Amino acid sequence: MAAAKTLVLVTGATSGIGFELAAQLLAKDTYHVLLGARSPEKGLAAVETLRARNLPGTVEMLHLDVTSDATIEAAAQYVQQTHGHLDILVNNAAVSAMTHPSLREQMRAAFDANATGPAVVTSIFGPLLQQSTAASRRIINVTSGAGSIERRLDPASLIYQVQQVQYRASKTALHMVSACQLVEYQPLGIRVFLYDPGFTQSNLGPHNTEANGARAVADSVSPLMAVLEGERDGEKEGILHNTGRYPW
Ligand SMILES: NC(=O)c1ccc[n+]([C@@H]2O[C@H](COP(=O)([O-])OP(=O)(O)OC[C@H]3O[C@@H](n4cnc5c(N)ncnc54)[C@H](OP(=O)(O)O)[C@@H]3O)[C@@H](O)[C@H]2O)c1
Repeated sequence: MAAAKTLVLVTGATSGIGFELAAQLLAKDTYHVLLGARSPEKGLAAVETLRARNLPGTVEMLHLDVTSDATIEAAAQYVQQTHGHLDILVNNAAVSAMTHPSLREQMRAAFDANATGPAVVTSIFGPLLQQSTAASRRIINVTSGAGSIERRLDPASLIYQVQQVQYRASKTALHMVSACQLVEYQPLGIRVFLYDPGFTQSNLGPHNTEANGARAVADSVSPLMAVLEGERDGEKEGILHNTGRYPW
């Protein structure tokens, strides 16, 4: 009998890092990917694109807007009824929120998607993670070094001149969300990681281009795969990135 595939939910998998993570997971026959999408149309198109590649893994679209409790609850109910558990949760969805008209709107949008979203998604999917019997079960919160307070205050940081307070502060809040998850889930045998992919080509903002020095998305995602596959399980908790770790 074939071994059951590892069930992975990736939020915000219609573009950029989330989509590439789905693709790298599907390149193996050991994963079933729940491709999280706030827009079902985009989600179905992403699934179609991946299926057309004839990769050995399997994928299905999961309608999930991390700012909508109704879609998160409906998604968890579907996973409960269809799969009965979840092995790996990747909280990847986020927004830069740089184009909202006021600072209040920018802060509200960034915190809702980037910090409140992962907190609520994890809380609602937590029981499904607890029903997993996989040794690999884990929560990975995709973050940014831009949310490290110590790095913010370091004039040598490459992005010292970049303010983007809404994005930075929402990722700092995600770091505390992760610390709280660590205290809650580690004793249950569920590992919790923060991972920073680094400056990457994606739809996050207009600056995320090759011309501006952003890395190819495949290069940012292969080290994330290593975290997902347990290659960095021996490291102390904190903010991991491709070549090491950042201070909180
Ligand atoms: N790119 C970088 O340089 C960089 C650096 C450090 C960290 N990161 C982090 O990497 C992660 C992925 O970002 P990315 O660069 O791949 O950006 P991206 O191409 O804009 O992808 C973001 C994804 O999140 C989805 N999303 C946004 N709001 C959502 C919501 N409310 N509910 C569900 N999904 C939502 C987007 O869906 P739509 O397609 O519908 O918009 C999209 O699929 C983020 O956590 C980001 O902070 C990126």
